[in-house]
Amino acid sequence: MNFELTEEQLMIQQAARNFANSECLPGVIERDEKMIFPKEQILQLADLGFMGMMVSTKYGGSGMDTVSYVIAMEEISKVDASVAVCMSVNNSLVCWGLEAFGTEQQKQQYLTPLAQGKKNDDLYIGAFLLSEPEAGSDATSQHTTAEDKGDHYLVNGTKNWITNGSSASVYLAMAQTDRSKGPRGINALIIEKNWPGVTVGAKENKMGIRGSDTHSIQFTDVKVPKENRIGKDGFGFKFAMQVLNGGRIGIAAQALGIAAGAYERSLEYSKQRRAFGKEIISHQAIQFKLADMLTRTEAARLLVYKAALDKDSGKDYTISSAMAKVFASETAMWAATEAVQIHGGYGYVKEYHVERMMRDAKITQIYEGTSEVQRIVIGRSLAK
Ligand code: CAA
Repeated sequence: MNFELTEEQLMIQQAARNFANSECLPGVIERDEKMIFPKEQILQLADLGFMGMMVSTKYGGSGMDTVSYVIAMEEISKVDASVAVCMSVNNSLVCWGLEAFGTEQQKQQYLTPLAQGKKNDDLYIGAFLLSEPEAGSDATSQHTTAEDKGDHYLVNGTKNWITNGSSASVYLAMAQTDRSKGPRGINALIIEKNWPGVTVGAKENKMGIRGSDTHSIQFTDVKVPKENRIGKDGFGFKFAMQVLNGGRIGIAAQALGIAAGAYERSLEYSKQRRAFGKEIISHQAIQFKLADMLTRTEAARLLVYKAALDKDSGKDYTISSAMAKVFASETAMWAATEAVQIHGGYGYVKEYHVERMMRDAKITQIYEGTSEVQRIVIGRSLAK
């Protein structure tokens, strides 16, 4: 066993840290307040090769491992969790899904520009469309239909809570073709945003990750050629679940970053802020909080790295990704709340960043499978 990062991983960590501090930190409060999508930052991430980190170089990616990806996600999430979620969805849900299950044609046409995050020098990213107004945790309950019309599908329905909803050019959308087959009647389709019948709904006004653009997407008689189906007929739900197993590692890394960022800011503040005649870090009440924050964050990091390593070494990572996600997201929520408490009144205002971290942390317990769903995934795997 070896807990040391490789030289390459250390370089990626440093590059991500530099990028987060120089490019994300300066406008993060304003983007959060005004719900500004971080297009400039995502384009810079594309130039760094961080939008298709795990995609092979053959398809425009950086050919890195999952450990490198989670290291970069952690560093960026320490500073701006909105930038991080755009990156995570494109990397682990969209690009990974296409590389693992797409046809050669789909890889050439869609994966290659998506992995580069750019096409014709403009932003080119993807979104993952599983959730619906009545299908969140109960993801098999798809109401969006993909009617088989011979050489194409006719898609109708509404998708909800879509990260990158308006900024994405390409959607990977799940839709029901044969209801009688239940989850085995669902297909995963590649749909371009600018196709006739695709409508992007209003931007959600969210509690946290307010820089990321979350929208509903409406499909009205959208013609999707059969060659845009991913995998065999009926593979869509399995596709979504397998993609989410990896996506959950990305969100776990995002949560880890929020926890680590909350800890680092709290440590720094505790050494400067004075109360009762001394720096507050000299008070045991604060020391205990910091000790627990550091311990739990490190435990989350080990679970996140372990899930990433399982994926890289070809092991089944269903349980390890669910464990990493549930533990890291609960740690993030708890650590960010403690950070606000340590900062006192200053923690409750925007300038000190920790109130945003507390709002951002909450979604990590909800999207890509709630904490309750992660426990279902772990529990059912044990029962099998
Ligand atoms: N990995 C692989 N396969 C899985 C799986 C997993 N994690 N979870 C379920 N499956 C498979 C099952 O083995 C089963 O296959 P078989 O029919 O061959 O046995 C099939 O999928 C159906 O599974 P279940 O019978 O267990 O289905 P269920 O209706 O009881 O639901 C669930 C299971 C785990 C609750 C699932 O619906 C789920 O994960 N829900 C949460 C969905 C989710 O994470 N949504 C996130 C939206 S995307 C997002 O948030 C992205 C973003 O924008 C940031």
